[in-house]
Amino acid sequence: MAFFYVVMILGVKYKQVSKSTVIFAPLNFKTKKQLIIVMRKINILTVSLCIFILMSCTNKTNTPEALLNHKVDSVLKLMTLEEKIGQLVLYTSDWDVTGPTLRTTYLEDIRKGHCGNIFNAHTTAYVRELQRVAVEESRLGIPLLFGYDVIHGHKTIFPISLGESASWDLEAIEKAARIGAIEAAASGLNWTFAPMVDISVEPRWGRVSEGAGEDPYLGSRIAEARVRGIQGRDNNLADTLTLLACVKHFAAYGAPQAGRDYNTVDMSERVFRDIYLPPFRAAIDAGAMSVMTSFNELDGVPATGSKYLLTDLLRGEMGFEGFIVTDYTSINEMVHHGVAANDAEAGLLAIKAGVDMDMQGEVYFKYLKKQVEDGLVDMKLIDDAVRRVLKVKFMLGLFDDPYRYCNPEREKRYVYAPEHLDAALDVAKKSMVLLKNDNNVLPLKKGEKLAVIGELATSTRDMLGSWKAAGDWDFMTSTLDELITYNGKENIIYAEGAKKMGTDRSGFAAAIAAARRADKIVMVIGEDWDWSGEAASRTDISMPGVQTELMAELKKTGKPIVAVLMNGRPLVLERENKLADAILEAWYPGTMGGKAITQVLFGDYNPSGKLTMTFPLNLGQVPIYYYNKNTGRPIYLPNEKYKSKYIDSPNDPLFPFGYGLSYTTFEYSDITLSSNELSTKGEIIAKVTVKNTGNLDGEEVVQMYVRDLVGSVTRPVKELKGFEKVMIKAGESKEISFRITPDMLAFHRIDMSYGTEPGDYKLFIGGNSRDVKETGFKLLAP
Ligand code: NOJ
Repeated sequence: MAFFYVVMILGVKYKQVSKSTVIFAPLNFKTKKQLIIVMRKINILTVSLCIFILMSCTNKTNTPEALLNHKVDSVLKLMTLEEKIGQLVLYTSDWDVTGPTLRTTYLEDIRKGHCGNIFNAHTTAYVRELQRVAVEESRLGIPLLFGYDVIHGHKTIFPISLGESASWDLEAIEKAARIGAIEAAASGLNWTFAPMVDISVEPRWGRVSEGAGEDPYLGSRIAEARVRGIQGRDNNLADTLTLLACVKHFAAYGAPQAGRDYNTVDMSERVFRDIYLPPFRAAIDAGAMSVMTSFNELDGVPATGSKYLLTDLLRGEMGFEGFIVTDYTSINEMVHHGVAANDAEAGLLAIKAGVDMDMQGEVYFKYLKKQVEDGLVDMKLIDDAVRRVLKVKFMLGLFDDPYRYCNPEREKRYVYAPEHLDAALDVAKKSMVLLKNDNNVLPLKKGEKLAVIGELATSTRDMLGSWKAAGDWDFMTSTLDELITYNGKENIIYAEGAKKMGTDRSGFAAAIAAARRADKIVMVIGEDWDWSGEAASRTDISMPGVQTELMAELKKTGKPIVAVLMNGRPLVLERENKLADAILEAWYPGTMGGKAITQVLFGDYNPSGKLTMTFPLNLGQVPIYYYNKNTGRPIYLPNEKYKSKYIDSPNDPLFPFGYGLSYTTFEYSDITLSSNELSTKGEIIAKVTVKNTGNLDGEEVVQMYVRDLVGSVTRPVKELKGFEKVMIKAGESKEISFRITPDMLAFHRIDMSYGTEPGDYKLFIGGNSRDVKETGFKLLAP
């Protein structure tokens, strides 16, 4: 241990080749100045080194955890209060600014030891330069963390997260996160602000594009898969091809009132715990070592100042051991929330609530030192926060070699690696959802003459979505390019027809003329990439501009219309559903989007995606989700008055959760159960046989739901409890079984305890949340 300490201080690389042999290799002290700096560090540290050696000799616990803590303490002891606070500060570089503020002096801050962490800086060259300033020019030379929003890819961009979730393919989702982490780590980064695990039933909220949809069970499985992908399967942060994950946004950010970003959140604790919290638990249990607070308030308390959320729940109840970072200036925003009179007070709230790191707020930097000196903040709070940050830096191996993520050869090898592009193509195809396909207008046949319409058909930027990270779109191919390559220039007639936004109808005539000359119309329509993601809430979630108006004109030609949608949220598609013969939801499909769309349209890939958010029939139904309650006045019969319904619209959505078609068809048998009684320690096996009744091989997502019929509190009409994605060959059948155990039926009961209640349950299995086979079982009392 003491040895390590010397190594760390001297900035010497070492390698233990056997138990007794150690190779020393000094870091390249290229100049006399560097050597002098290091020598000065040695002097500063001599006294604490002696203390440390003494401590190490007397310490009887030498578990890896204890050793790690010793290392951390050895550094902590050397630090001035200012340097400690520096470790609790995170600033954006000016390479990519993802929020409203920029502190232009960040380089000087690093040099002075006032900033221990940077985000929005990447490439090995740039990261190395900033790291060099931290390691060689700051007094203690503590390496920096480098964070970035690698949400669905770093350079090779995968479909937006909501799209990925529609694949229901956990392996593919994990692989996408893995590749994002590999490319980012190879580009100098060691930390990503992902996964975003906010459940949401609010399609007006633009950030639904970043999550995994409305369901807590599916959301939890996806959260785990993404953490596994980011941090690696064995959570070995020291692996130079993994990143530190940051689960966000803690908590309940996905439920802003009226879907307006950053707006008030108010929900019962039961809903919070049963619906919004599970994916956070899953991600933390999977090993995520950092968490980001959210901008919103919950029950009157902004999350960034909530001791209940951060200390009692997250650290206490959930056992989270990593560090907590704020979102962009969310400490300062507590002044606007009206719980602090000024930034200094807001900072007090944050540090006392349990926030370790201030992203971009400059609040800890400006006020914390004086607050400690004035006795307003206990030094222990600071030390504990610094410990948590240093611990992660040790785990990442940054003290062994601060430049370990800055290897240009590795960057060249991994960025846009051919296997990454192949994976992006694969995930993009898997994420697409076929919403309609009348008269088998799809798949297209090679050689059919196609009128390709819409501004989005030629766009590459839009295909990357709002979190494009470091993705480039100038070398990408568009949907039109790929359709031409696949189907031949002579079979494609392109006319823009309508822009994605605005009221310009001047292109209508050319589009109609093109349609008249074609066998089929392929309209690529949707939202601008900037219309979803952060700060992109909409009050009208229908198709923007005059795209649908053009569709109505094209309909008059009598030619079949295939609508390919690019969007980041559930849209109201009532008109499009009437006009189009086929609808393919392609989301923002990423770097390989054009090819993926083309291969799906031509049937080289049989669509298998299923919606993970309900698509409403109209905006008035929002929020609408499949796990609603029955109410005291459900509609069992149509046209009854005094029932829970609308007088001007059905209650049902246009496309329910779990919905998605294939070019083939599947038929479900009745469900058989191994028993219709479930004892508290027992299990039931539920089985169905799914038959592919069409002519093409295809994949189906078989979904299992339950309903608890009588509870101490009201229970949802359906809850997803299992799913399996299976490939079934044309004409073949597969038996799918699900294991049902009592723990799957637990919820927060009337007294807020978490557990099950005996009684009758319904069990449903089907290809979406609406069209299901049904049976029942009884959960026995203990
Ligand atoms: C604000 C966003 O809310 C958050 O998701 C993101 O990670 C940070 N900005 C950093 O870019």
